[in-house]
Amino acid sequence: MYEDIRTDFLIIGSGVAGLRAAIELAGKGEITVVTKDIMKESSTEYAQGGVAVALSDEDEVGIHYEDTIRAGDGLCIKPAVEVLVSDGPWRIRELIDWGAAFDMKGTKLDFTLEAAHTRRRVLHAHGDSTGREIGKVLLSKVTAESEIKRLTFSVAVDLMVHDGRCLGAVILREGKLYRVFAKATVLATGGGGQIYARTTNPEVVTGDGMAIAWRAGAVLRDMEFVQFHPTALYAPGAPQFLLSEAMRGEGGRLLNIYGEPFMKKYHPDGELAPRDVVSRAIISEMVETKSPHVYLDLTHLDAGFIKGRFPRIYQTCLRYDVDITRDRIPVSPAAHYMMGGVMTDTDGRTSIEGLFAAGEVTCTGVHGANRLASNSLLEGLVFGARAGMSARDYASRMSEPVPKTYLPPHGSGSIDHYDYNEVRSLIRRVMWERVGIIRCSESLGIAKERLGAFKGLLEGTYLTRKEVEVKNMLQTGLLITEAAFRRECSIGAHYRSDRKSKEGCRYHLLMKREDDGNMSFWEEQCD
Ligand code: FAD
Ligand code: SIN
Repeated sequence: MYEDIRTDFLIIGSGVAGLRAAIELAGKGEITVVTKDIMKESSTEYAQGGVAVALSDEDEVGIHYEDTIRAGDGLCIKPAVEVLVSDGPWRIRELIDWGAAFDMKGTKLDFTLEAAHTRRRVLHAHGDSTGREIGKVLLSKVTAESEIKRLTFSVAVDLMVHDGRCLGAVILREGKLYRVFAKATVLATGGGGQIYARTTNPEVVTGDGMAIAWRAGAVLRDMEFVQFHPTALYAPGAPQFLLSEAMRGEGGRLLNIYGEPFMKKYHPDGELAPRDVVSRAIISEMVETKSPHVYLDLTHLDAGFIKGRFPRIYQTCLRYDVDITRDRIPVSPAAHYMMGGVMTDTDGRTSIEGLFAAGEVTCTGVHGANRLASNSLLEGLVFGARAGMSARDYASRMSEPVPKTYLPPHGSGSIDHYDYNEVRSLIRRVMWERVGIIRCSESLGIAKERLGAFKGLLEGTYLTRKEVEVKNMLQTGLLITEAAFRRECSIGAHYRSDRKSKEGCRYHLLMKREDDGNMSFWEEQCD
């Protein structure tokens, strides 16, 4: 049933984190990067606003640290934040040396402002194509290394874990299953935005990594924390295209459908209040005005400036007949980023020997309960490199050959009773309506029941990408729901309308699948 592939290092995912890990491993053995689609298809490719880094004359690493901690609402893991902000400048300089062309103001790097940053510290490229520029530079380095093999259109289905050690992963490629044996494996599959009906994330981002790691018995942390971006395009027939926070950083205003500014009613920082505050404020205005959207308005800014500063957004909106220099832009929130994920230490080690992880799939603890805007590209660079180093050190100590007799568990769940498109759509709607920006015990209970009705799907082994994705969306959706149900308080991006208080909320929620298939949960108090 399986064909075998041997490699020294297996990297799953080709966004900023996976590519950066691959670069770190170059020269240390054969590296295989597997990815679901073409190499560049990832959230990284669509990242707009920029990358936060303390490199401007007015900034300091310590101020970036404080801003990150404040945004995380008491749940950041401080040593992880220290690593992020202090490795950050070095990783960005390295990227510039490799050819990254960040926008300049005269002879100096140009920094923009985003919500909850007390300094202008967000570097951008080609105005609003920062992720694309970073991905391009990393990919050209990866492509130049002959010992890095790229397996595109290959879906990681499950990790292979034997005697507590990760031996690699089962990959689905062109309808066939492969056992890819590796001395060390790096999981870098990104987040799970597609689990929600409204999301800024591309189609490849279906929560696979969390589900895969869960099935393998890895510890997951703080899965209930999902960040909703306040401003995604709301136009007939248009995708929920992101309207960067940098647009508000440059002076964009939020107006309700009557043209009234409203943000100051909700927070003294107005348009630049923390993301969760802005998202909830928009929802309140939408409810009050009985409208499915509010407006983002840039029409008071110079048209030439807008076109130059946000060229990709300008062109994309025009395709949907919205001229952002002249029209108010209809927007509403959408699922954007997962703070929770596979628990790692500051060196990308997971709770499973031989398995490392980096990027949005992880919970390093740098984001706490709410991510500071533009910290995730930086996280991918910093922790992608660190996970690569750890994988290299681990492999150099590991002498015994991988056991070729290992057989991955083969599920017996049936696919026959389900229409996958229907299940996919139901998961997305349930998550959006019941496990969204505002949750409560009742909504979460309903979600548990509705999603739980499809639990039979979780047991199957499937041979198409679509089926594998639906299984993972269901699994990760259930984990988010269960965690949100258990955290009976409101903190950061997790807002419970039935328990609005933060009291007793300063803990991390950890979860793990036990050998008998049951979920176990435990709490760790924050320092
Ligand atoms: P991704 O870049 O998502 O890459 C994941 C990779 O894993 C992809 O290659 C995917 O195909 C692959 N994959 C997934 N599942 C499997 C599987 N089962 N098998 C094989 N391969 C798999 N952050 C910022 O810091 N600044 C910004 O300005 C910013 N803007 C954003 C704008 C948008 C529209 C979006 C969606 C996100 C934005 N973010 C931003 C968040 C940031 O882009 C992501 O958090 C970050 O790029 C994640 O990087 P990653 O490498 O972890 O995952
Ligand atoms: C944005 O440009 O608004 C996205 C920034 C981020 O998610 O970090």
